[in-house]
Amino acid sequence: MRVLSGIQPTGNLHLGNYLGAIRNWVRMQDEVGAQGGDCLYFLADLHAISMPHVPAELTANTRAMAAAVVACGIDTDRSILFNQARVPAHAELQWLLNGTARIGWLNRMTQFKDKSGKNREGASAALYTYPVLQAADVLIYQTTHVPVGEDQKQHLELARDIAQKFNNDFASEDAPVFTLPEPIIPPGAARIMSLRDGSAKMSKSDPSDMSRINLTDDADTMMQKVKKARTDPEALPSEPAGLEGRAEARNLVGIYATLADMTVADVLRDFGGQGFGSFKPALGELLVDRLAPINARYVALKDDAAALDAILEKGAQKARTLAKPTLDATYDALGLCR
Ligand code: ADP
Ligand code: TRP
Repeated sequence: MRVLSGIQPTGNLHLGNYLGAIRNWVRMQDEVGAQGGDCLYFLADLHAISMPHVPAELTANTRAMAAAVVACGIDTDRSILFNQARVPAHAELQWLLNGTARIGWLNRMTQFKDKSGKNREGASAALYTYPVLQAADVLIYQTTHVPVGEDQKQHLELARDIAQKFNNDFASEDAPVFTLPEPIIPPGAARIMSLRDGSAKMSKSDPSDMSRINLTDDADTMMQKVKKARTDPEALPSEPAGLEGRAEARNLVGIYATLADMTVADVLRDFGGQGFGSFKPALGELLVDRLAPINARYVALKDDAAALDAILEKGAQKARTLAKPTLDATYDALGLCR
């Protein structure tokens, strides 16, 4: 079993990123490690240049994200953590796969449509071929499993299509060049909503900082944000069905359940009939309890650029070694002399 996942290094991590993605990385590190498999996790800095960006900020964000991922529990002795730019094989394989990816396939990608919006002609070519780089990220390591959010499923299917077509066109049946990866969409993967609007997802791009819990928030700030979170005047129901039509209440109960590793039904068994006046402080305390240690590790590491670069370089060395055989096999299969 070989697990790989990536995240774009865009500013600080928030509770949605942690509960929706990184916490799952940490769990896979433990489970897959116990079975003798490998976990590779990377910061998708090459993907980040598909949108307008400020170079110095990209450098800072890449280091900040590395610090955050380590603070959340990724152990760089057990997992391979690196940034894409340190492993040129990703960009090289992307070019080689551009010969196999079809324009018609890329035209169907909903993320490109969303991100390019009304200005499709002005979008970068990198935004358009973004999914081919993502396929290269996965295929270069013979990855078997890719934990991702629901929104990335289409990109994973494209990676499978590219692998399949390449194997068909350029490899013999008994010696395929690429492994077909399986997406893992964690069943319990929480979709965390904004604290200000239960119908919008918690996001770094929300202009209101009160809408999200950042991993950099101190205990007082987290408590304040929970207390000011939008709710309705009703008490909590004692069963999940009673959360129907109450998006804000459902979100707060969902956050509690996810953090405490309980079901929503269990949380409501404990808190049903109580108002937010008592539920919010309990949620705030739980958040502080779970996030304060992460925050402390993050603060200790975030400004140590040399240590962070050393961590990323150590991971990149291992990644480059793992990537080489597949890259060589791809050049060979295509008849490229080197
Ligand atoms: P943002 O919406 O803040 O820009 P990204 O799109 O960069 O976040 O997402 C990075 C990772 O975090 C992805 O794996 C995504 O699925 C996960 N993620 C982001 N926001 C949430 C959320 N509100 N709930 C659950 N997972 C989330
Ligand atoms: N596109 C992914 C996202 O926005 C990040 C990513 C890049 C990724 N390459 C990947 C995820 C390879 C999994 C595997 O969340």
